[in-house]
Amino acid sequence: MKFLASTAVALACMVGSAFAQFRYTGVNIAGFDFGCGTDGTCDITQVVPPLTQYGGPDGLGQMQHFVRNDGYSLFRLPVGWQYLTNNTLGGTLYQPNFEKYNALVQACLSTGASCIVDVHNYARWDGGIIGQGGPTNEQFAALWYSLASEFEQYNNIIFGTMNEPHDLNATLWAESVQYAVNAIREAGATTQLILLPGDQYTSAATIWSDGSGAALLNVTNPDGTKTNLIFDVHKYLDYDNSGTHANCTTNNIDTAWEPLSQWLRENGRQALNTETGGGNTASCIEYLCQQVAYQRTVADVILGYSGWAAGSFATDYILTETPTLNGTVWYDQPTVSYC
Ligand SMILES: *[C@@H]1O[C@H](CO)[C@@H](O)[C@H](O)[C@H]1NC(C)=O
Ligand SMILES: *[C@@H]1O[C@H](CO)[C@@H](O)[C@H](O)[C@H]1NC(C)=O
Ligand SMILES: *[C@@H]1O[C@H](CO)[C@@H](O)[C@H](O)[C@H]1NC(C)=O
Ligand SMILES: *[C@@H]1O[C@H](CO)[C@@H](O)[C@H](O)[C@H]1NC(C)=O
Ligand SMILES: *[C@@H]1O[C@H](CO)[C@@H](O)[C@H](O)[C@H]1NC(C)=O
Repeated sequence: MKFLASTAVALACMVGSAFAQFRYTGVNIAGFDFGCGTDGTCDITQVVPPLTQYGGPDGLGQMQHFVRNDGYSLFRLPVGWQYLTNNTLGGTLYQPNFEKYNALVQACLSTGASCIVDVHNYARWDGGIIGQGGPTNEQFAALWYSLASEFEQYNNIIFGTMNEPHDLNATLWAESVQYAVNAIREAGATTQLILLPGDQYTSAATIWSDGSGAALLNVTNPDGTKTNLIFDVHKYLDYDNSGTHANCTTNNIDTAWEPLSQWLRENGRQALNTETGGGNTASCIEYLCQQVAYQRTVADVILGYSGWAAGSFATDYILTETPTLNGTVWYDQPTVSYC
């Protein structure tokens, strides 16, 4: 194993302590979502597959490195709905594009990690909200039926029903999520985790208070149970929680992780933090490491996290977690090395 000196030091401090309590630690391997905006539009000409065979960065090499050298066990693989269907609304997968995305999923599975299939559309298609004037719940369910049919045989797949819903009716949104859950289970994926995303860009600071978590508590498997239905939460550490600034101002413990943990325990539920991160700066390393350390103490209800982001992001992207290869040695970004 080869580490940056700093990685070795950071790991030496953590191994044997609470490090092992998380069920999942990992990172987003972005690229198939490039071109997607918060209004649910996706310019699929901007996609950069994070796979060398398609002319992109070495996502497989990155994931192998993260597993081998950082002990990571989770990769989130964002993709735009429009890319999967070649801009045709509905659930019919456009095979030439799906094959490329599936190559990334298979690369992820080959590392032994768990892999989140993340539809990165903000609860929308080209500005219209799912089940609220935009795509019908049936069209959303058809997409998930198609995807789950492709992946139902893999235990390590996690179904990320939707990235960052926002500005919608949370009660109606929970009904749309119920359609996705039904479709995934009916396609034969009966045991895998499914992620339930709340309003306000899946904010960990509001899902327990804004009504969207309350509405999602009612989502069930077709058999009436709530087994393996896990809340999806995001949180950044910059002053406006946007993940667009190099400096961080909070560890989110008092405003998000502590009250969220209480709410999850009261309701007998769990959550996964599928996006978090900061710039590779002293302030972000400090606050991000505090956040992760706290999350480990509530690992009974917070199953883990995946950082934003590696894959096709350049190493000068503000929140980059993309490692660099020199010869045969991968070097991690500071937020990964330290936290
Ligand atoms: C996929 O989309 C492109 C661009 O819109 C179009 O040229 C092509 O015909 C589409 N392919 C199919 C099979 O519909
Ligand atoms: C959400 O939609 C439901 C069902 O149509 C409606 O009863 C409720 O008033 C709506 N909530 C808000 C906040 O608009
Ligand atoms: C959840 O379901 C219960 C029972 O059907 C219902 O009374 C309650 O209003 C629902 N809560 C939300 C937030 O939709
Ligand atoms: C981040 O904070 C450092 C230290 O306070 C400061 O020097 C730097 O200018 C800040 N960077 C940005 C982009 O605000
Ligand atoms: C790559 O590693 C070699 C050998 O350790 C070193 O001399 C060189 O400076 C490194 N290159 C970069 C870009 O870090």
